Amino acid sequence: MNLRELERRFGRRLARVTTNAVVARPGLWRVFRWSTRAQFDRLAPSWDSLRRPEAFAVLELALEALPAAPKHVLDLGTGTGIAAFIAARRFAEAEVVGVDLAEGMVAQARRNTPPELAERVRFQQADAVRLPFEPGSFDLVQLANMIPFFDELARVAAPGGHLVLSFSAGPETPIWVPPERLRRELGSHGFADFADFEAEGGTALLARREDRV
Ligand SMILES: C[S@@+](CC[C@H](N)C(=O)[O-])C[C@H]1O[C@@H](n2cnc3c(N)ncnc32)[C@H](O)[C@@H]1O
Repeated sequence: MNLRELERRFGRRLARVTTNAVVARPGLWRVFRWSTRAQFDRLAPSWDSLRRPEAFAVLELALEALPAAPKHVLDLGTGTGIAAFIAARRFAEAEVVGVDLAEGMVAQARRNTPPELAERVRFQQADAVRLPFEPGSFDLVQLANMIPFFDELARVAAPGGHLVLSFSAGPETPIWVPPERLRRELGSHGFADFADFEAEGGTALLARREDRV
C-alpha cells in the first residue's frame, strides 16, 4: 500500500470517528474541529476527482419528492459545491447558499460555479454549529455526506420547510449516521414526516420541519 492510499484510509477512519463522537456528544466538536478543517482543506484540490458521478443519485431522488420547489436553499458541508449546483439546476427560482468549514473547499466551489448559476448560487465559509443566518432562513436545508448538528438545523430550517440528509455510499460512507438515530434526533428537534430513499448504494432521509415548534 502506498502513502497516498494509507492517508486516504486514515482520513476515512478519522471522518467516521469524528462523526460518531460528535453525533453522540456535540460538545466534542471543539476537539475535532481543527483536524476536520485541516483534512478537508488538504482534500479540496482533488475532491472532485474522488467523486463518483452517481454519488448524488440518492440526493436527486429525495429532492424529487419535495412537495413544492424551495426558494431558499442551504447546502451545508458543501465541499466543492456539487450538491449546491444540483439544487440550483433543479429549482430554477431558488437562491442557494453553500457553506463549508474549509476555506479550500469554498474557494474550489467558487471556481467551479458555472456562469449561468453565478447569480443564484453563492458560497461562504462558516461552521455548521454556529451559522450566520437568521432563524427559519431556509425552506430547504440539505446535507450530502456531512455531520448533522441538530440544534442549528432546527434553528435555520423554516417552519414547514424540509431537510434532506444524504449519504452517497449508505453505511459505507465515512460520514454516516444510522437512519434510526437521525429520526430520533430530528424528532426531538421538531422534524416529522420522515421518508427514506435508496439509489446507487446511497441512502437519504427527508424530513419536514413542523409548522409550530
Ligand atoms: C465528506 S465532505 C462532503 C462534501 C460534499 N457535500 C460532497 O458530498 O461532495 C464533508 C464536507 O463538510 C465540511 N464540514 C465538516 N464539518 C463542517 C462544519 N462543522 N461546518 C461546515 N462544514 C463542515 C467539510 O469541510 C467537507 O467539505
